[in-house]
Amino acid sequence: MTQPLVDALRLRPLTRPPVWIMRQAGRYLPEYRELRARHSFQHAVSTPEIAAEITLQPVRRFGMDGAVIFADIMTPLQAMGVEIIFDPGPKLRPHTLREVLELPDLDTERVGFVAETIRRVETEVPSETAVIGFAGAPVTLLAYLLEGGGSKDFLAMRAALRVDPTAAASALEKLARAMRSYLGMQVEAGAHVVQLFDTWAGLLDLATFERLAVPAARASLAGLAAPTIYFAPGSVHTLDLQAKVGATGYSVDWRTPIVEAWARLGEVAVQGNLDPAVLLTDPTTISLEVKALLSRVAGRPGHIMNLGHGIDQHTPPENVAEFVEAVRA
Ligand code: CP3
Repeated sequence: MTQPLVDALRLRPLTRPPVWIMRQAGRYLPEYRELRARHSFQHAVSTPEIAAEITLQPVRRFGMDGAVIFADIMTPLQAMGVEIIFDPGPKLRPHTLREVLELPDLDTERVGFVAETIRRVETEVPSETAVIGFAGAPVTLLAYLLEGGGSKDFLAMRAALRVDPTAAASALEKLARAMRSYLGMQVEAGAHVVQLFDTWAGLLDLATFERLAVPAARASLAGLAAPTIYFAPGSVHTLDLQAKVGATGYSVDWRTPIVEAWARLGEVAVQGNLDPAVLLTDPTTISLEVKALLSRVAGRPGHIMNLGHGIDQHTPPENVAEFVEAVRA
């Protein structure tokens, strides 16, 4: 049994695009908030029974075509010995490049709970629903490691890449090896698709993106036995280069018209790209925006419906229902 999401990634013709939402398992859902009132984020992620339940919540409620596993991009770094707290975003001690180079390799047994969550979700979702695994891309993980938490411009990472490009390349290679084995573990456990989140790669200039971000992302995905999606929001300037990552499909944010992004990416699947703000409006607007996007795509094989970035936590669940319905209609 194949899943529409996998079919779309393989550019097979479909009667309607598959649909899921980045960050669909999270704070906009009352049933998520109810569980989180009783369990910390960390406990929820590392307890397969709870993580699987949170993964399934949006799928049960809205019937998306993909179930994205509840975890965080920072989860495998914790397994490599980095102490991180979630408040709500990741907070950690700022690391030097040297400290990143000295991190141990990832022992996937220490993230075995993610594999167990995947196995549980895989047995519980309908067979046509794709289980989506994910990881953070090396540049994005390095950004958090060097900065010590979120930032709007991640200047510590951008400076480090310039001060010692050789050490930076080695640190990125190390993180890429770790993510490749982490994603390999997820595919073996039953993930049908994996997505690599390169949330901060768009901060890099074109030359640095090509020299450091592309090979690191590529190595993270190389040779996986499942279709892959690469997502670098805020990256209009790098669209022409992204195909060098070698992913099966590319997720694009809302800033660029999807048809233009597609032309620059080439003959690959494209995911997106409704502005998450549309889901803060009303059912009529949502339905019109979905129709407009679908008419721009015009049935081209390889389209996966999604937002241009994660869903906002203040999104009313009924608007998510309208979004999914509008794609189905
Ligand atoms: O539903 C899903 O997509 C699955 C789970 C998921 C989470 N984080 C759960 C989470 C995924 C795929 C992520 C990825 C992630 N985490 C990214 C890349 C995606 C993107 O938006 O570009 C990044 C940059 C992070 C780092 C991170 N973790 C941030 C910035 C935050 C702050 C809170 C937020 O929601 O933005 C987190 C914590 C986090 N990760 C929460 C969730 C549901 C909120 C935790 C809570 O309940 O308080």
